[in-house]
Amino acid sequence: MAESYDLVVIGAGPGGYVASIRAAQLGLRVACIERESSLGGTCLRVGCIPSKALLESSERYEETRNGLKQHGVLTGDVTLDLAAMLRRKDSVVLALTKGVEGLFKKNRITRITGQARITGPKRVVVSSPKETVELEAKSILIATGSQSAPLPGVEVDYDRIGTSTEALNYPEVPGHLVVIGAGYIGLELGSVWRRLGSRVTVLEYLDRILPGMDAELAAEARKVFEKQGIEFRLKTKVTGAKVLNGRCTVRLNDDDVMDCDRVLLAVGRRPNTEGLGLESLGIQPDERGKIPVDERFQTTASGVYAIGDVITGPMLAHKAEEEGVAFAEMLVTGHGHVDYGVIPGIVYTHPEIATVGRSEEELQAAGVAYSKGVFPFMANGRARALGSTEGRVKILADAATDRVLGVHILGPHAGDLIAEAAAAMTFGASSEDIARCCHAHPTLSEALKEAALAVDGRAIHF
Ligand code: NAI
Repeated sequence: MAESYDLVVIGAGPGGYVASIRAAQLGLRVACIERESSLGGTCLRVGCIPSKALLESSERYEETRNGLKQHGVLTGDVTLDLAAMLRRKDSVVLALTKGVEGLFKKNRITRITGQARITGPKRVVVSSPKETVELEAKSILIATGSQSAPLPGVEVDYDRIGTSTEALNYPEVPGHLVVIGAGYIGLELGSVWRRLGSRVTVLEYLDRILPGMDAELAAEARKVFEKQGIEFRLKTKVTGAKVLNGRCTVRLNDDDVMDCDRVLLAVGRRPNTEGLGLESLGIQPDERGKIPVDERFQTTASGVYAIGDVITGPMLAHKAEEEGVAFAEMLVTGHGHVDYGVIPGIVYTHPEIATVGRSEEELQAAGVAYSKGVFPFMANGRARALGSTEGRVKILADAATDRVLGVHILGPHAGDLIAEAAAAMTFGASSEDIARCCHAHPTLSEALKEAALAVDGRAIHF
């Protein structure tokens, strides 16, 4: 007989595992199905966490080699133990995936390993090499995430020509790494390998990096990355790439050819919906492969829900987590909420780039009148002391009401600084509200306060 649950969650990434925990907290009997042997999804296993571990390690290497002398710290020969760096990254991942296992036990969530297929409105079959089990569920949540999108002509061999997963594990520092796509992944992993010694060339189809992010900051960020040694070729269409005798050849703009040691394909991600049995439920993904849902995350099939990368919106772990919580709360209590206007996006390069709310381009396109306050880190005492003065804070506020509409930061610890902006925006703050909050001195957060003052032309230190 099929084991019966209130909720069966398919996928144990940040969307699925968080939804499972919240639903269990609210008293549901929950099973979570995951085909990988460890929990945490792309984010924990081969995404956010391992990339941040390598960004941290590579930054320390780079700083020890080139950044300590100015502090009066002299070192001898600095050498790289890449294998040790990769092992440390793996141990960070292991600790966190084990942590999710612990949370599942604590919340009495049943973990089932295998490939899930929905066979009816309340039926899920899980297959693994060991066995096939059938589950009965009052509700089913699809949280299967996404995978690297392919590019026509690029022959990915998951070795020389690979995705972010391979780029977290190169066994040697590539002599020349070509990155296709100047988005989140391209810039973060491009930074890692540049710091470790690779020549890095980023090829981007558009005339700018980081499409979707504030254009002014993206342009400034590009200059900073160029100074760090990353080469950019914009307006460059990649039409093919293949491996020949251990070397890669990349075809650009149809006629040009580039030769390199490794290729990282990072042109976006596509939702994982294959093999779930959607056809039999009458669920039709849209032209981008995303599953349509209503405001309660219900698909066109009753009792079947979806959240995270498989539905519309940015493919970000924290967006999936918010949806996981809102889904579980709506299911059990009837109420839940995600504020889609206030989802921060962060690129963890050095300096970091962080953004929340609307960009200038978006406001202009929507015909919204806005005031703008800018404050450069050059004029912030703490940034000077840190030796990290590149970048600025930019606040965009409604011209009539002063309500904050967007905050964009390029600078040290921008990813942490943006949290204040997100909290303020969630509370519907004006730039005056931020300007009137006492910010401790000397901190980087003063740059946010000063940018808020600058909206009204009264920054003190600039
Ligand atoms: P992305 O969407 O951020 O960037 C892809 C880039 O590739 C774009 O700039 C696009 O114009 C370019 N491109 C597309 N086709 C091309 C072609 N034929 N030739 C050259 N360039 C081309 O995608 P990415 O970096 O692969 O990241 C995937 C997802 O993972 C993102 O949606 C992001 O949300 C998420 N992610 C988030 C991170 C974070 O929050 N820090 C880190 C890594 C990934």
